[in-house]
Amino acid sequence: MDIEKIIQAMTLEEKASMCSGSDFWHTQGVERLDVPKVMVSDGPHGLRKQAMEGDHLGINDSIKAVCFPTGVTVASSFDKALINEMGQALGDECQAEGVAVLLGPAMNIKRSPLCGRNFEYFSEDPYLSSTMAASQIKGIQSKNVGTSIKHFLANNQEHRRMSSDSQVDERTLREIYMASFETAVKEAKPWTVMCSYNKVNGTYASENHRFLTEVLRDEWGFDGFVVSDWGAVNNRVEGVKAGLDLEMPSSMGINDKKVVEAVKAGTLDEKVLDETVRRILTIVDRFEANKKPDTVFDRDADHEKARKIAGESMVLLKNDGVLPLAVGTKAAFIGEFAVKPRFQGGGSSHINAHKVSNAVDSAKAAGADVTYSKGYDLIEDKVDDVLIAEAVEAAKASDVAVVFAGLPDAYESEGYDRTHMSLPESHDRLIEAVVAVQPNTVVVLHNGSPVEMPWIGDVKGVLEAYLSGQSVGDATADILYGKVNPSGKLAETFPLKLKHNPSYLYYVGEKDVVEYREGVFVGYRYYDKKEMDVLFPFGHGLSYTSFEYSNLKVSEASIKDTDTVEVTVDITNTGTVYGKEAVQLYVAPSDKGEAIRPEKELKGYEKIGLEPGETKTVSFTLDKRSFAYFNVVLNDWYVEDGNYGIVIGSSSRDIRANGTVEVLSTVKAPNKFHTNSTLGDVMNHEKGQELIKPFMEIMGNVFGGGEEEEESDAASEALTEEMKMAMLRDMPLRVVILFSGGSVNEAQIDELIEQLNA
Ligand code: BGC
Repeated sequence: MDIEKIIQAMTLEEKASMCSGSDFWHTQGVERLDVPKVMVSDGPHGLRKQAMEGDHLGINDSIKAVCFPTGVTVASSFDKALINEMGQALGDECQAEGVAVLLGPAMNIKRSPLCGRNFEYFSEDPYLSSTMAASQIKGIQSKNVGTSIKHFLANNQEHRRMSSDSQVDERTLREIYMASFETAVKEAKPWTVMCSYNKVNGTYASENHRFLTEVLRDEWGFDGFVVSDWGAVNNRVEGVKAGLDLEMPSSMGINDKKVVEAVKAGTLDEKVLDETVRRILTIVDRFEANKKPDTVFDRDADHEKARKIAGESMVLLKNDGVLPLAVGTKAAFIGEFAVKPRFQGGGSSHINAHKVSNAVDSAKAAGADVTYSKGYDLIEDKVDDVLIAEAVEAAKASDVAVVFAGLPDAYESEGYDRTHMSLPESHDRLIEAVVAVQPNTVVVLHNGSPVEMPWIGDVKGVLEAYLSGQSVGDATADILYGKVNPSGKLAETFPLKLKHNPSYLYYVGEKDVVEYREGVFVGYRYYDKKEMDVLFPFGHGLSYTSFEYSNLKVSEASIKDTDTVEVTVDITNTGTVYGKEAVQLYVAPSDKGEAIRPEKELKGYEKIGLEPGETKTVSFTLDKRSFAYFNVVLNDWYVEDGNYGIVIGSSSRDIRANGTVEVLSTVKAPNKFHTNSTLGDVMNHEKGQELIKPFMEIMGNVFGGGEEEEESDAASEALTEEMKMAMLRDMPLRVVILFSGGSVNEAQIDELIEQLNA
């Protein structure tokens, strides 16, 4: 496609028509210039291709496809290669179905456990979220199918999602919410980015020049097109100016006309419109030039792939020796989820799964001795004493009870947020009744976000299966019976209760105003800093084997912030079965730093597989960003001088090895001396002590330290040495003039400031 020639040949109206879809799922084409329409489809964990009636809520049917584990599940694998493999399978499916762009991955931060779409998102941690997303993007795009990372930016709730205004300070945006997208954009070069519905700091994401152009393109090097979330356009002309290229779905010509009028009126430069068209055509051409409609993919083989991914993602939260079960164990599977598992969430990501396995059938197929009783009714959603009594009998008659519980469809979905973190009462009552008669009780959970577990102390095991795609039953049975050794780790914290969550006081906001007052203290960054007990910490997940960490090595004792440092650690499988371990590296901030920072932050993770007795070395490379925080005065990432902790763990609260590295900044600390700088600030400057000596002597005398001590008044005599120092430390320079009684003048202070800032 000769894009420049096409743009030259296009009429103004044709160009404007390219700025919105031709229907619900296709871009606009121009027949006379041979510009084809291409199809986009949801995403993110399967292909929701609607061949007939389109909708963005998952209401009308889509073609049969393989439903892979949802974002929350696959993020818990902590395995970049695994999610890349899933991406490749999705890419093949798109090629075979003629879909140019898959709308995903979804990578908003889980600010609160309540967000209705948490099941689609990866994590509360931006490093994990962005790096897992990058791998999925690379997998999909390796098949020459585009991705649309979403929803950019600060879209962390469903409540009033089309009009709410996320008010987030710059540092928090940079370190948490933008960071979740940044690495994925820079490393994986997604073909498209989907802007979110909401406003960010007063401006709709769909017309936010700063984020869509200055950050995304100028800073991060994004070179694809930006598409609106479905219906996210507020003012189309402002959107074009801001860098929003494609409006979806079709504006039915309404907004195209406004674009034409704006160009004619001279309020929109036609060159800006040309650039928009150029970006759309570039992606259309990229797909068209390498279409592979004969791609063969095998849904049954992908079902097995989905099973493997689910098996390596589910998280074993608790195991008091009850798991794995022997095939011959008489087991009572209880709860309707055991035969009708919840394996995906509601809304635009809803996949028409080509087949679904359930735990009862899968366990029986593996030869297990299993009975089933319903326990609760998923539709009725009320405590049913008869069903509970049957379940209790079944539990009594067995060696072990496995209760399948979780959140039914209506409890969490796109479009609304949860209001509490509890399971349905019928599930909690069932678990309590079963555990009262059967000490060997295991709970399997199907949910897309943390839940409270009032019975946690009574049960022997908990397997967090999350929403693990169509192979859920097979993968669950694989883990319960030890065919697969669990290796998932939580990509989010399970707080003891909702009220402990840092966003609790402000979540969903007032009307359309949502203040992110907890700042950078999201998830474990908050719980750790406050030393709070949690139900299960970030990064937690058990195995049927054990791992020993040893021999931590940090390649350098001291580096500059422009250097990198290598960290290696040996991991040994000290148990009796093969297992995988997700090794996590956190960095603790500088011991000399002044910035208010989390206790530690995830900066690396690697998943390795080990045979019993085997040892492997895991290595990490840390660079400036691993140590930096976003300094708003510099408007850049900044590393404070000092010793940083290298903290290696099996979870964020199961630390196995500690090291340090000194990092020295090559950037001058922000120059900020002025008349309101304190004497303490000056003393901390490298030449400060020397420069300030004469003033300190004078001030010391004023506060009753010098020769005139005898003559000083009673009040100054009463000052203790400590109080005196504290007062001097916090005294602004301008006050020195006043309190020195004329011994220090303005000119001297100005000169001092000049020397300090030099
Ligand atoms: C969702 C997007 C989705 C789009 C198209 C919107 O409601 O927020 O994630 O891709 O619909 O279905």
